[in-house]
Amino acid sequence: MSRFVAPSLLSADFLNLRHDLDMIAESQADLIHCDIMDGVFVPNISFGMPVLRAIRRCATKPLDVHLMIVQPERYVRDFREAGADWLSVHYEASIHLHRTLSQIRKEGMKAGIVLNPHSPVSLLENSLEEADFVLLMSVNPGFGGQSFIPSTFEKISRLKEMILQKNLKILIEVDGGVGLDNAKALYNAGADILVAGNAVFSSKNPKETIAQIKNI
Ligand code: DX5
Ligand code: ZN
Repeated sequence: MSRFVAPSLLSADFLNLRHDLDMIAESQADLIHCDIMDGVFVPNISFGMPVLRAIRRCATKPLDVHLMIVQPERYVRDFREAGADWLSVHYEASIHLHRTLSQIRKEGMKAGIVLNPHSPVSLLENSLEEADFVLLMSVNPGFGGQSFIPSTFEKISRLKEMILQKNLKILIEVDGGVGLDNAKALYNAGADILVAGNAVFSSKNPKETIAQIKNI
């Protein structure tokens, strides 16, 4: 069981990304969460390769790249080349998930499956072995600063059970509406990695907030 924190750059100051990346470098953050949105899979567009490459140049921690795009298999190599260390694709966007996950691993990245709030963890029954981590969305993907969906807790417990039953070492990541009010309960429920955007970047002292979430 880990207690990782992954600040989400979606809520960072895009005019001062270096400043926010320096803060993350000095903080207790374990990963840097990068949200890629295509305006098709989700009703928003974020940033793409050029920005990711720039982030990579001054980031000192692994880039955890969350793809909210259709046909993610088309871009696996490109994201590796842009600097992704962890790459996750949505179950709902992947027709040949098994192949995509092995493609991601073949490129030397950790492979993740993402589930939307409406997708039950039972969908993972036949693909867990191919993944290094599962990302449970606790908001509908597309935007930062939304409210946490409480049914996520049950999904974490069920997923944890499945992982233990299969004797696998798969990390559970939770993304959306995470903050100081629910971090402890999420770690206790079995989450290994908490993504936090708004909670970190809208706080007075982001570095301190990262430490507080991690050590809560
Ligand atoms: C939402 C993104 C999240 C987002 C989380 O689609 O996947 O990573 O940045 O933001 P908060 O922590 O503000 O809910
Ligand atoms: Zn995300």
